[in-house]
Amino acid sequence: MSDKPVVLSGIQPSGSLTLGNYVGAIKNWVALQNSHDCLFALVDMHAITVRQDPAALRERCHEFLCLYLALGLDPDRATLFVQSHVSGHAQLAWLLNCHTSMGELRRMTQFKEKAGTHTDNVNAGLFDYPVLMAADILLYQADAVPVGDDQKQHLELARNLAERVNARTGERVFTVPEPFIPEVGARVMRLGDPTAKMSKSDDVPANSIYLLDEPKTVTKKIKRAVTDSDGEIRYDEAQKPGLSNLLSIYSAVADRPIADLERDYAGFGYGRLKGDLAEAVVAFLEPLQKRYAEFSADRAGLADILARGAKAASQRAEPTIEHVYRLTGFVPGG
Ligand code: TRP
Repeated sequence: MSDKPVVLSGIQPSGSLTLGNYVGAIKNWVALQNSHDCLFALVDMHAITVRQDPAALRERCHEFLCLYLALGLDPDRATLFVQSHVSGHAQLAWLLNCHTSMGELRRMTQFKEKAGTHTDNVNAGLFDYPVLMAADILLYQADAVPVGDDQKQHLELARNLAERVNARTGERVFTVPEPFIPEVGARVMRLGDPTAKMSKSDDVPANSIYLLDEPKTVTKKIKRAVTDSDGEIRYDEAQKPGLSNLLSIYSAVADRPIADLERDYAGFGYGRLKGDLAEAVVAFLEPLQKRYAEFSADRAGLADILARGAKAASQRAEPTIEHVYRLTGFVPGG
């Protein structure tokens, strides 16, 4: 075990990974691999809180793993694993359920939203989702959890549960996790509506740049992205959200400060910026997609990575389960 701080994060294998997932999350994960003891999970048990086609779910897990690898997540430096491979997630979630009140879960804004949009399937798993997420985090004694704004309330519940169980048992069963706010990394917004975050589950594909989009699709989407009519290339999120979004995407894929881009494009039109941005995005995606294809073709290699991840994560989860089971009063020897 290393003495570096433990970082855990997860992505649901649903929808298709976008440039927003890379810029807003995975890019930071790649950087954290050197400084932190990292665990990154594909949270397939979370994904089934909405209906999934089994074959598509299976395929998507492989796709996401190959994209993780192609983006630079490294199984030698981080633990990459699938949530359902580690029984501790379900075990701890049940235990935490018995320390969580219905009222706490009813207050969760994401539940209220999802219950409103998936009215035909408001299942108990959807309601309980934040407890499973708390289990993901507390199982590994995570110190820090990189999450977006939409997950802050869930992380707060994980903190409360950690403190509650520690207080009730009188032992330090769980590390109380902190939110991790990355130094770099911008929020990528929808191309067609720059006031909302780009999402891998958007019903309108033109809003997102998918990591597996073909070059001509990328170019078309960027050309059609919403901007404004004042004609000036300058970063201003409030007044010029569309243009600012294009500049921050450009900055992320080309690794150049926004101020440099503003200076270079001063006096040029939006068409020029969009053309160059499309080229920069394609130049980023092409080698990524090539690496992706290589990982994808190597099914035996992937199976090996998954098996290593499952083993490493299970071993790390075990002491937490043993400790909390003992303090709960479960008879040993099972
Ligand atoms: N709920 C998170 C999301 O939808 C995904 C997630 C599940 C997660 N478990 C996690 C994120 C643990 C961080 C830590 O984005």
